[in-house]
Amino acid sequence: MYHQPVMLPQCIEALQIDPEGIYVDATFGGGGHSLGILEQIKGGRLIAFDQDEDAKKEADKINHRSFTFCKANFRYMKKYLKINGVTQVNGILADLGISSHQIDSAERGFSTRFEGPLDMRMDQSGGVTAESVVMNYPEEKLHKVFGMYGELKNARTAAKTIVASRKKMPIRTTMDLKTALKEISPKGKENKYFAQVFQALRIEVNEELQALEDFLHQCAEVTADRGRLVILSYHSLEDRMVKNFLNTGKAFGELEKDFYGNPLRPFEPVTRKAVEADETEVEANKRARSARMRVGSRQLAVGSKNKN
Ligand SMILES: C[S@@+](CC[C@H](N)C(=O)[O-])C[C@H]1O[C@@H](n2cnc3c(N)ncnc32)[C@H](O)[C@@H]1O
Repeated sequence: MYHQPVMLPQCIEALQIDPEGIYVDATFGGGGHSLGILEQIKGGRLIAFDQDEDAKKEADKINHRSFTFCKANFRYMKKYLKINGVTQVNGILADLGISSHQIDSAERGFSTRFEGPLDMRMDQSGGVTAESVVMNYPEEKLHKVFGMYGELKNARTAAKTIVASRKKMPIRTTMDLKTALKEISPKGKENKYFAQVFQALRIEVNEELQALEDFLHQCAEVTADRGRLVILSYHSLEDRMVKNFLNTGKAFGELEKDFYGNPLRPFEPVTRKAVEADETEVEANKRARSARMRVGSRQLAVGSKNKN
């Protein structure tokens, strides 16, 4: 199976689908959530995005008159919606991160479990690979990547070790990288450590946090009044950004208020806390364990309702 969708019924419920409405699935993957949305749509439309060629091949199998697929990064959502004649949507879903298909494909280099090239690009048509980051970044920049995106306690040592190691032998594969860092990984916690290192590189290679920030702001621009934004995230860096955006209108930063003290934020958080998968789902699907769903409802400022 390409990918088992996480919290599917909860996502569909949270979107509050109007059968005549226009919806976005920003992260098509294997299309599990998209198919769930399409089941609810009658006269409406679903526009799905994914930057991965393999996901496009899955999307090509869907033959539904309400369905449009864009092989594109969701950070350009607004532009692609416009190309498809859409300026406003009734709901957006994003199931962040990578699919089981991507992680289980050794040749993509996402998994600490398999030997493969250090690639890690979701969009393989361009951009830098993880190999290029590991082989070419200066030590200070590697230190930042491991500290900020992997939250490694020994980020400085990891960067130093890589720079020393790559001078002796190129680091080209997942195993080369693990070998280079083996000595400095905490004993008995090697798997967790390598998972953090791989996460840091993946976030850097795909500019994941920058893409998410761009995307969140566009969600505010294109969502109609009372339209829903539903986001599933799988690590604390993303979840923090989504939570902050729903609470303050900014991925990073503080809530501003208008002259009357009303919060200036585009979405009202629907749930105070993130929703997690139940035990039965976690038992059946390991990936669901770290999922956090947050939901916002678009609230247009009074006075701008007629304009949008
Ligand atoms: C967790 S999977 C989605 C699984 C999907 N919901 C399903 O049910 O099969 C995440 C997908 O989002 C894609 N993706 C991640 N970041 C993206 C971005 N910035 N733009 C477009 N696609 C992205 C990945 O390529 C991957 O296929």
